[in-house]
Amino acid sequence: MGYLLALDQGTTSSRAMVFDADGCLRGAAQLGFAQHYPQPGWVEHDAHEILRTQLDCVRMALVDAGVRADELAALGIANQRETTVLWERAGGRALAPAIVWQDRRTAAVCDRLRAQGWADDLRERTGLELDPYFSATKLAWLLDHLPGARDRAERGELAFGTIDSWLVWHLSGGRLHVTDPGNASRTLLYNLHTRDWDPLLLERFRIPPRLLPAVVDSIGVCGETDPGVLGAAVPIAGLAGDQQAATFGQACFAPGMAKNTYGTGCFLLMNTGGAPVASRNRLLTTVAWSGPGGTRYALEGSVFMGGATVQWLRDALGLIKRAADIEALAASVADSGGVVMVPAFTGLGAPHWDAYARGALLGLTRGTGAGHIARAALEAIALQTVDLVEAMKRDGAAPLSELRVDGGAAANDLLMQIQADLLGVPVLRPRMLETTALGATFLAGLGVGIWPGPDALAAQWQVDRVFSPSLPADVREAVCARWQRAIERTKGWES
Ligand code: G3P
Repeated sequence: MGYLLALDQGTTSSRAMVFDADGCLRGAAQLGFAQHYPQPGWVEHDAHEILRTQLDCVRMALVDAGVRADELAALGIANQRETTVLWERAGGRALAPAIVWQDRRTAAVCDRLRAQGWADDLRERTGLELDPYFSATKLAWLLDHLPGARDRAERGELAFGTIDSWLVWHLSGGRLHVTDPGNASRTLLYNLHTRDWDPLLLERFRIPPRLLPAVVDSIGVCGETDPGVLGAAVPIAGLAGDQQAATFGQACFAPGMAKNTYGTGCFLLMNTGGAPVASRNRLLTTVAWSGPGGTRYALEGSVFMGGATVQWLRDALGLIKRAADIEALAASVADSGGVVMVPAFTGLGAPHWDAYARGALLGLTRGTGAGHIARAALEAIALQTVDLVEAMKRDGAAPLSELRVDGGAAANDLLMQIQADLLGVPVLRPRMLETTALGATFLAGLGVGIWPGPDALAAQWQVDRVFSPSLPADVREAVCARWQRAIERTKGWES
């Protein structure tokens, strides 16, 4: 007994990890799944493929760790957020492909609602921007476009959920329909102040309340797995969106502490304590987690293209063979040679929120080579993060004294150095880079009482490497100013 299982269901892959009670990784597995782009701006996943790859990973990780399912004390789930699934309660079949968080098909709907003056009220209630990123307009789209769906939803035959809910439903053999407040706070349907689904928003988006999952704490046992699914009844004791889980796994327990995850996108979350802090600079206010210690909130900056920018250079341009090759290519030149890349492939997220922006490469000359483009791509990832930190500063947050980093691209030393240089603060990379899975494990372990409280976990956090800023301030300012000019040129491109 005493092992913990983390399910880390991300945008491009499903992963599972087995940890022991000391927080040491004992076994892991990862499987990718298909990304579907049926129309420009649309991004879909097959919810059943997500489920299949996730369950296969669990089995493989248990074998890798040499641990049986009945030796698990609990499991925790961290998931790609906002991605919207609608399924039949009888049988658990998804009615349509899941609409992924990156999908922009509801941009025009958001425009219409904005023109009707909804944006401020929505921001006040939910802490979010009126943007296709979030679940509400995606769910409304499904109800409007799938024949009979709205009637069936009214009759209580269907269930809506983000990926956490979808996985728990199937893990529990269809007995549990739940989500946590962190995931709920990404739907545009959850009121941060009442800490419940907002009846007025449900009415405005025409969402039948019977579709919604029950909101349960992020930390605590909400039920158990069906023995027929994993081979044992394992308590489900931790639920969180992946960015919230990474914040927990980075031990950002005190207000003012922040982490940035370089995954598909980049997500910077700062713990703001026990009350929601409204942003005046288009950052998001979101629930971080809830449990025995109450509810914790965060300010978040969401950037849609982080590591995915490197994937594009690999898959669409063939500039590199493996994502890791970007580091050597970018290091082959001293700077980007004046090239600026704006990776607004799926619009711009925080702090710009422009669903119609599109990507651009600016400043090309006859002397531009692949190295300059690679370097511009890394700078773009770092500069988007600088924009988020600047917005947090303008929101009155205390200046960052350090930034904790994680996610696949955080292994790239050059990117981390560029990040420290352009931010002007030290970047701290922990030994354990799998902070999302670790966070889910921490939540589940606390949920079943394996650890007494967060302090025991903070003591486990260890730094691997510190990247110290070394770029002269005038160079940094020039790079940032050029970036701002480039960003402005990409806005509204598609309209
Ligand atoms: O909000 C979307 C985010 O949760 C996706 O995270 O790690 O799959 O890029 P990731």
